[in-house]
Amino acid sequence: RNIMQLLEEKIKTDGIAVNEDILKVDSFINHKVDPFLMKEIGKDFAAHFADHGITKIVTIESSGIAPALTTAIEMGIPMVILKKQPSKVLNKNLYQTMVTSFTKGTSYELTLSAEQIDETDHVLIIDDFLANGEAATGAIRLLRKAHATVAGLGILIEKSFQPGRDKLKEQGIHVYSLARISKLAENYIEFIPEEV
Ligand code: G4P
Ligand code: NA
Ligand code: NA
Repeated sequence: RNIMQLLEEKIKTDGIAVNEDILKVDSFINHKVDPFLMKEIGKDFAAHFADHGITKIVTIESSGIAPALTTAIEMGIPMVILKKQPSKVLNKNLYQTMVTSFTKGTSYELTLSAEQIDETDHVLIIDDFLANGEAATGAIRLLRKAHATVAGLGILIEKSFQPGRDKLKEQGIHVYSLARISKLAENYIEFIPEEV
């Protein structure tokens, strides 16, 4: 079984479809973390994006960190975490951008220090969910401010019935999602079959 099949099975057995919009995956991604699954995910992302000249992995705190770290280890490159809260330690060279989450109804100032990414970087962004694409779009805005380039986006679970994927593809971003969900309802999950 490949990682796409593994993740789909894990979602079927341990994921909880709460309603038409929300899939709860607290037992292996968002609260408790399955490190062995994360390791396999890292291997797959690293293989998929090999030969893209990637210099750094970028993720958004907090749930993107585990798969971003395993990917970074596999690729032998650093991982940078975009912060949702400004550092209390004085830092002058910050890039910041506002991100609004439709799912949670909140906003935050996504922050990157200019010391961690620069114009020599070609970045792979990793995150757990792709819903409306606001977090990923915010991350891309920050990376552009840093004059870095974006190689693509690696996602664990894409909710394909929400507009995120199309929004990113319109910007020319290569989106690679391990599990793609076409429909959710209470206790019901439908997947888009893996492309062959
Ligand atoms: P978007 O970035 O694609 O627009 O997504 P949105 O703002 O709507 O999502 C906000 C937060 O909700 C993100 O987590 C995202 O991962 C999470 N999320 C979205 N849809 C689902 C879902 O169906 N199930 C679960 N479990 N999470 C979902 P976050 O606030 O950045 O927090 P963290 O988990 O990374 O700490
Ligand atoms: Na996330
Ligand atoms: Na999340």
